[in-house]
Amino acid sequence: MKTIVDKHELRELLGDWRREGEHVAIVPTMGNLHAGHISLVDVARDNAERVVVTVFVNPTQFGEGEDFDSYPRTIEKDTRRLKKASADVLFIPDVETVYPLGLENATRVIVPGLTQQLCGSFRPGHFDGVTTVVARLFALVQPDVAVFGEKDYQQQLVIRRMVEDLSLPISILSAPTVREEDGLAMSSRNSYLDAAERQKAPALFESLQAIAAQLAAGAREFADLEESGREALEQAGFEPEYVAIRSADDLGPAAADCPRYVVLAAAHLGGTRLIDNLVVDA
Ligand code: PAJ
Repeated sequence: MKTIVDKHELRELLGDWRREGEHVAIVPTMGNLHAGHISLVDVARDNAERVVVTVFVNPTQFGEGEDFDSYPRTIEKDTRRLKKASADVLFIPDVETVYPLGLENATRVIVPGLTQQLCGSFRPGHFDGVTTVVARLFALVQPDVAVFGEKDYQQQLVIRRMVEDLSLPISILSAPTVREEDGLAMSSRNSYLDAAERQKAPALFESLQAIAAQLAAGAREFADLEESGREALEQAGFEPEYVAIRSADDLGPAAADCPRYVVLAAAHLGGTRLIDNLVVDA
């Protein structure tokens, strides 16, 4: 595996691959890689001859007072994991490479509507930063395929919307959420939890499972189910931002005849913000 910082060096290598007729998959990440990230690398491997993993802690998707400065940066460990996972390139651009005109003057890509709800309403501007950086990483890597995790359900839909609307010739693949044994979705932010919080953390997934079980059994009182989820989270020591049941296809309002629902939640546990979701076939 090659570690590349320089975009010209990356371009050259991409050119060599293209001449051989090889396809390129990108896995964008912010590093501090865990088994969830590696599962995306495996999906990428299965869908293209070449795999580029990017590690870039993107300043434009963090809000005021969020954890940009404290976000775990573990590039040596990440490099070892990616070698094992047989990625071809680890691309670690610096801020000047990704944002040559600086953060203030950067051209931005914004997906309205879909980004102004759920996580978007609690983290204003967050998804604008995500689409802006992902569009930039796509321009730098020019992938045929890009892999995202269902763990960030809204993010993955927002990126699909962007790619479709801009007619980008990139196939977006989603991979299922990888969990710890007790059900907690793996996340770089789990390392912020102290021992007592870590014990409580699986209650987030459990609250989603309880709602999913009721939906699967035919319950359609969506507002009541959401409220029961909030209460369960509060009982477990969380401060919920939202618990929401939506149409899985487009995050539209849940209706009695939706073929697939997604139950999503975001909640604070101490100083840590956790998110999770679960798709339910009706
Ligand atoms: P990051 O949080 O590092 O996640 C990178 C990718 O890994 C995302 O597609 C995310 O959905 C996926 N992922 C995270 N935890 C996962 C888990 N437990 N199971 C499966 N997949 C998981 O998401 C971002 O970075 C950034 O917003 C990014 C897209 C890189 C743009 O900066």
